[in-house]
Amino acid sequence: MPQTVTGVIARAKGAPVELVEVVVPDPGPGEAVVAVQACGVCHTDLHYREGGISQDFPFLLGHEAAGVVEAVGPGVTEVVPGDFVILNWRAVCGHCRACLKGKPWYCFATHNATQRMTLTDGTVLAPALGIGAFVEKTLVASGQCTKVAPADAAAVGLLGCGVMAGFGAAVNTGGVHRGDSVAVIGCGGVGDAAIAGAALVGATTIVAVDVDDRKLEVARRFGATHTVNSRETDPVAAIRDLTGGHGADVVVEAVGRPETYEQAFYARDLAGTVVLVGVPTPELTVTLPMIEVFGRGGALKSSWYGDCLPSRDFPMLVDLYRQGRFPLEDFVSERIGLGDVEAAFAKMHRGEVLRSVVEIGGGA
Ligand SMILES: NC(=O)c1ccc[n+]([C@@H]2O[C@H](COP(=O)([O-])OP(=O)(O)OC[C@H]3O[C@@H](n4cnc5c(N)ncnc54)[C@H](O)[C@@H]3O)[C@@H](O)[C@H]2O)c1
Ligand SMILES: [Zn+2]
Ligand SMILES: [Zn+2]
Repeated sequence: MPQTVTGVIARAKGAPVELVEVVVPDPGPGEAVVAVQACGVCHTDLHYREGGISQDFPFLLGHEAAGVVEAVGPGVTEVVPGDFVILNWRAVCGHCRACLKGKPWYCFATHNATQRMTLTDGTVLAPALGIGAFVEKTLVASGQCTKVAPADAAAVGLLGCGVMAGFGAAVNTGGVHRGDSVAVIGCGGVGDAAIAGAALVGATTIVAVDVDDRKLEVARRFGATHTVNSRETDPVAAIRDLTGGHGADVVVEAVGRPETYEQAFYARDLAGTVVLVGVPTPELTVTLPMIEVFGRGGALKSSWYGDCLPSRDFPMLVDLYRQGRFPLEDFVSERIGLGDVEAAFAKMHRGEVLRSVVEIGGGA
C-alpha cells in the first residue's frame, strides 16, 4: 500500500517552500523505502528552489540524509529492513564507460528510484538530486542506501552531500597530502569539510577565505591555520604571502562564482591544482588569459560530489567520526523540524549556520 507522509516541496521558482502530503509507493524491483531520521539543509536545495538547477518544479527538497530502511523491493540484496543507512546520489551502475574504465566515482548512469513520489492529486515530484529527504519516508534506488555503523543521524547524514563533497574536493579531486599548502575559498559546510579533510591528511598550511568573520572563526576550529576576510584583504596576495610568495598547492573554490574562481586560479602555485566544488548558476562565465592557463601549468578540476564512492568513503568517514578523528557533529549548527526549512534558508543566506539539520521522528 502506498503511504501518505509529510514532506517539504518547492512548488515554483522563488516561492517559499511548503509542507505537503507526499504519496510514497511501495518499493518496486531495485528500490527501497527509507524512514528518514535526519536531513541537512544544503545550499543546493536553495539553488533548486531558486530555479538554478532545473525547471522541473515541484521539487521534493532535501538530499543529505540518514535513516533506517523500512522496506525493500524484489531483487534487493544490498540492504535489508532495519539497516541504518546514509542516502547517496551516486548509486553506480557498473556498466557505463566510466564504471568499465574502473572509475565508478564518475559513473554517468547512476541509479534512482524508477517509480515516482507524488502529491495526493497525482502531481509527480522531482526529488532533489534523485533523493528528496525532507520527508518522513522516501523512495530511492537500493544502491542509494549506504549501510554504515549506527551513529547520530544528524551528523552522519551530512556525508550524503555537502561534507562528502568538500572532503572529497580536497582529498580525492585535489589530491591533498601531507605537507601541502591548501587554500579554501568559501567556508560554509562544503568549504569547512575541505578544510577538515586537508587537516586530516596532513596539509601544513590551510588558508580559509570568506567574506564573513563568523565563518572564518568556525573554519579555524576545523583546522584552518590562517584566515583571510576577502572583503578587507586581497585574498590572492594574502595566500601568496602565507605560502612563501608562491601560492597554494591546492585551492578549493566552494562558492561557485566567477570572482572567487578567478581568485582560486591566481592564488595557486605553479603546477598547482584548482578544484571547483561550488556550483555556478547557468548564466555565469569566466574569462582567463590563455597564456596564464598555459603558463601556470597544473590542473583546473571540477569536483562532482567530491569524486566520492559512497560504498568506500561513507563507512570510512563514519569510522573516523566514531573514533573522534573527523568532527562531523561540529557541522550541525541547529536541529530543526520539517516546518523550519524556509527559516533555515534565511539563516543560511544570512550566514548564521553551517548546517541546519531537519530531524524527523526523534533522530537515531
Ligand atoms: N560539487 C558538489 O558536488 C557540491 C555538493 C554540495 C554543495 N555544493 C555547492 O558548494 C557551494 C557551497 O555550499 P555550502 O552548502 O557550503 O554553502 P553555504 O552557503 O553554507 O556557504 C557558502 C560560503 O561562501 C561564503 N561566500 C559567499 N560569497 C563569497 C565570496 N565572494 N568570497 C568568499 N566567500 C564567499 C559565504 O559567506 C559562506 O560561508 C554551493 O555552491 C553548493 O551548491 C557542491
Ligand atoms: Zn556507471
Ligand atoms: Zn547538497
